[in-house]
Amino acid sequence: MKKFYITTPIYYPSDNLHIGHTYTTVAADTLKKFKTAQGYDAYLVTGSDEHGQKIQEKAKEHNKSPKEYVDGIVADIKKLWKMLEVEYDQFIRTTDPHHVKVVQDIFTKLYEKGEIYKSKYEGYYCTPCESFWAESQLVDGNCPDCGRPTHLAEEEAYFFRLSKYRDSLLKLYEDNPDFIRPESRKNEMINNFLKDGLEDLCVSRTSFDWGIKVPFDPKHVIYVWTDALSCYITALGYGTEEDEKFKKYWPADVHLVGKEIVRFHTIIWPALLMALDLELPHKVFGHGWILFEDDKMSKSKGNVIYPEPLIDLYGIDAFRYFLLREFSFGQDGSFSREKFLQRLNSDLANDLGNLVSRTVTMVEKYNGGILPKPSKEEDIDKSLIELAIKAADKVEYNMDQLNYSQALEEIWKVVRRTNKYIDETTPWVLAKEERKERLNTVLYNLTESIRIIGLLLNPFMERTSKEIFRQIGFKDNINWQDAKEWGKIKSGTKIEKGQVLFPRLDIKKELDRLNEANEKLIEQRSKKEMEEFITIEDFDKIELKVAEIVEVKDHPKADKLLILKLKVGDEERQVVSGIKEFYSPEDLVGKKVVIVANLKPIKLRGEESKGMILAAEKDGKLTLVSTLEDIQSGATIS
Ligand code: ME8
Ligand code: MG
Repeated sequence: MKKFYITTPIYYPSDNLHIGHTYTTVAADTLKKFKTAQGYDAYLVTGSDEHGQKIQEKAKEHNKSPKEYVDGIVADIKKLWKMLEVEYDQFIRTTDPHHVKVVQDIFTKLYEKGEIYKSKYEGYYCTPCESFWAESQLVDGNCPDCGRPTHLAEEEAYFFRLSKYRDSLLKLYEDNPDFIRPESRKNEMINNFLKDGLEDLCVSRTSFDWGIKVPFDPKHVIYVWTDALSCYITALGYGTEEDEKFKKYWPADVHLVGKEIVRFHTIIWPALLMALDLELPHKVFGHGWILFEDDKMSKSKGNVIYPEPLIDLYGIDAFRYFLLREFSFGQDGSFSREKFLQRLNSDLANDLGNLVSRTVTMVEKYNGGILPKPSKEEDIDKSLIELAIKAADKVEYNMDQLNYSQALEEIWKVVRRTNKYIDETTPWVLAKEERKERLNTVLYNLTESIRIIGLLLNPFMERTSKEIFRQIGFKDNINWQDAKEWGKIKSGTKIEKGQVLFPRLDIKKELDRLNEANEKLIEQRSKKEMEEFITIEDFDKIELKVAEIVEVKDHPKADKLLILKLKVGDEERQVVSGIKEFYSPEDLVGKKVVIVANLKPIKLRGEESKGMILAAEKDGKLTLVSTLEDIQSGATIS
């Protein structure tokens, strides 16, 4: 069985994913389902890119450790893919221990081969992109990738000898015209990055520490893109004992990526692979962006479209269909809720939904729900049959180019032709005139055409495809090649009308519903974010006070506990504390510490404890908290 390895980018879990990320993943998943239907052993990898300064800062904003923060977002990402029935084979996280280890091994190997060397870096740094730029590369002083401001920075760093791969890269593009798709992106890479020579790439950072450490120089962390790109092979077990998948599936047949990261995938990644003496991917496809009203989506502009409300209200298939049909994969496109609802009405409710329901209704009405036997063929039948059985080839051709939109258009040509066939043959007239033979032929042809449509739709809209088969009673295994043959559905099959596939929508009403659902989701998420913090009222509940230690003794029944007598203003109280490992009683008497004074009193191994002494912890060692200047016991802290 021939293999087909597909990847999506591994997304930054810095925020919840939006419709743009969903777009790449849905495209990749559809390709997987398509290749599987064609008989390939298709393998799909997706995941999350969890290191780097941006994530570290984001986690801090949320008052969490980086890992804690990304764990939450990654759980949401996985939920989203499950909701969309994405059939990935592997979800790679760059914090997975085996990934970390292999990236370190790769770095060491390249260093030992002289492909990576240590030097000094001075350049213009773009924090959001985590990229250094030479002055000549800046556009109006800003980052050439994202257009945001950069700042001058210097650091000791490791470099990858990217410059030496310039000619090999140009040759790679020339020998493999399909390596970068679409064509325009290839020209961009050559003209903007390769033509005037290539500089060595800085592949380590010291300005932050949330990343994979350079194993032999742990003050440095490995550049996030070296870390991230390697996921395409670490996901397959490369560099570990269990590398059967790597042997089986590498090289990738296609890396699907958004246009802004084509440079990383077509310059840095192949050069790294060449340096490692590994095979190169066959193709990198840089698709366009989904814009909102011609503008880039961003949380700060408040124009981010989240997929969940669209899926909740209209179902997976409508959502997936819209993404792949509305936009040309290589180009940018603008999203609007109106366009979404209009497509649902015109393509799904009117064209497809109507065809199925009209046909099934007629078989029930004119033939008691039993699929009749066709007899004599007329010319008009031939044109329908011809179009239907040739559609699969056209879909294949377009899917090879990753032209999803045109592939779906080829299917809809059959849908529309079949609808037209109903109008041309007017089965209701045939019934009235009792032309039973002709009526039977027409009903058979309609159902058979729908069977082919159901097969063609299967990789794109699996649920709809299955529902169509259920209604026309088609129970054979799903086999792509069967879409190329006429006459596969058996006469005598029981046809069973089901629910309407796609109800017609009142666009104005739906727009309100959608807006409401979107706002609700945003509100929910920001409420969840708020719960990560406490308010000043919460803090006010805690009474912190300065206390003087007047007496200390060992707890008679516990090795690690001390019993302390404290003076808090005029009051004396007893507190039990687990600091015996770190302090002896004589160190403590006379010292002033900070306590939580209003903690509910408890008994610890039989001794009353009223309050809690604060201590700072590092690597398991405790040190008591005190005030900078001496202050009377009983003073309150706020
Ligand atoms: O770049 N329209 O992750 P990321 C279409 N971690 N696609 C969009 C989109 C939009 N508006 N917005 C995002 C990274 N995408 C790196 C990748 S790979 C080794 C490391 C999709 O979270 C598109 O596929 O910024 C784009 O390339 C990707 O999400 C960027 O995701
Ligand atoms: Mg990005």
